[in-house]
Amino acid sequence: MTERVAILISGGGSNMAALIDSMAEEGHPAEPVLVVSNNPEAGGLEKARDRGVETAVVDHRTFHGDRAAFEDALHERLEEAAPDILCLAGFMRILDEPFVARWDGRMLNIHPSLLPKYPGLDTHGRALRAGDAEAGCTVHEVTSELDGGPILGQARVPVRSDDTPDTLAARVLEKEHILYPRVLRRFAKGEKSPIFCS
Ligand code: GRF
Repeated sequence: MTERVAILISGGGSNMAALIDSMAEEGHPAEPVLVVSNNPEAGGLEKARDRGVETAVVDHRTFHGDRAAFEDALHERLEEAAPDILCLAGFMRILDEPFVARWDGRMLNIHPSLLPKYPGLDTHGRALRAGDAEAGCTVHEVTSELDGGPILGQARVPVRSDDTPDTLAARVLEKEHILYPRVLRRFAKGEKSPIFCS
């Protein structure tokens, strides 16, 4: 049985594109059914449409700070597509507990650090300021703890002495595009043990 996957984005959607492209591979256990953005200007919307995937916008700004109403509308739109798995891919809104509970065990996120190090923002700047020898990215299940759910996969990159947050982010992003599809393929088959790659 093919698992139905919906993807939430806010921006450029390069991880989303990598996920969609990977699901086109022969014998893949999942298929993309919907991409939703909270940002009508998100460049990823066009990338999804170019790939023949249905898109929708649920603009958080129209809810004037009523996060519960935004999340209800998001949930309603998602339900129409009946996804089995929800992937957050550069989705820049914090989701509250009731929404997270509805997708318990079915929602994944990619975060640009080696969690549990550096949850939240500015991960690359923080890694550089700490003098870390390596950085990386993590795919994890989403729970109500910010960037805190069970780890499903991690990829590491060495930090270079001349790295800036931008150069490090670019190298980590390349790894994200490999790691997230690998984890999704496994997750869609029910495999939740973590994978670690360099
Ligand atoms: C990625 O670094 C992701 O880890 C982070 O936001 C960035 C999104 O990039 N959460 P994209 O929209 O997938 O290109």
